[in-house]
Amino acid sequence: MVSETGKMRVAAIGDLHVQESSVAPYREMFAEISANADVLVLCGDLTNFGKTKEAEILAEDIKSCSIPVVGVLGNHDYECGQPEHVVEILQSAGMTVLDEQALEIEGVGFAGVKGFMGGYGRGELAPFGEPIAKAFVDEAMNEARKLENQLRTLRTERSVAVLHYSPIVQTIEGEPDEIFQYLGSQRLCEPIDRFDHVKAVVHGHAHHGTYEGRTPRGTPVYNVAQFVLKPKFGKQYVILEI
Ligand SMILES: [Fe+2]
Ligand SMILES: [Fe+2]
Repeated sequence: MVSETGKMRVAAIGDLHVQESSVAPYREMFAEISANADVLVLCGDLTNFGKTKEAEILAEDIKSCSIPVVGVLGNHDYECGQPEHVVEILQSAGMTVLDEQALEIEGVGFAGVKGFMGGYGRGELAPFGEPIAKAFVDEAMNEARKLENQLRTLRTERSVAVLHYSPIVQTIEGEPDEIFQYLGSQRLCEPIDRFDHVKAVVHGHAHHGTYEGRTPRGTPVYNVAQFVLKPKFGKQYVILEI
């Protein structure tokens, strides 16, 4: 299953945004990926509005994959207020939706959460004042905590952190500065940099962001939103060797 170099070929794509009107939108691409990679990682915004029909359309394409499919939800998958139902549909098609529990495939760990917004550096929102401001920050802290708990359980030498929101600023550059704080949170970075086994981080959400960046400790971070990948590589997905 793993390539001759001993590395795992991890195909990654974010922001699929499957719509109700889509007809087998990723069938062909998933077949190509199944032939060239060992695992497929989906980085959220799998559906456009989190509708049942959208999830069912994607589920059919996932069923055609002959390699393991893992991933996280994105904010769009919450829009209809039934993310659990979206998860249920995708899991019954064979996808593992990461949130509370990490997964190990052929010696490589996968830990993932959707993440949340909140900003970076001086622009980071603090848990201060009104209860609603504190609740907002709590959400980001909770996502970071779930990621840390998963990373802590992994006993693998190599792992991949899977997110929807960005943990760093570099990979959202290209988006308007005014919305940086809605594209991710640096709180997601702290757990990543605490574990040596994290070899790569993949995320989506910033459709106009930048492909590559690094955490403060140097772990590579890739924005794999298909809208970032397509203009850069001519393909909607990327294959990383882990
Ligand atoms: Fe998106
Ligand atoms: Fe998103």
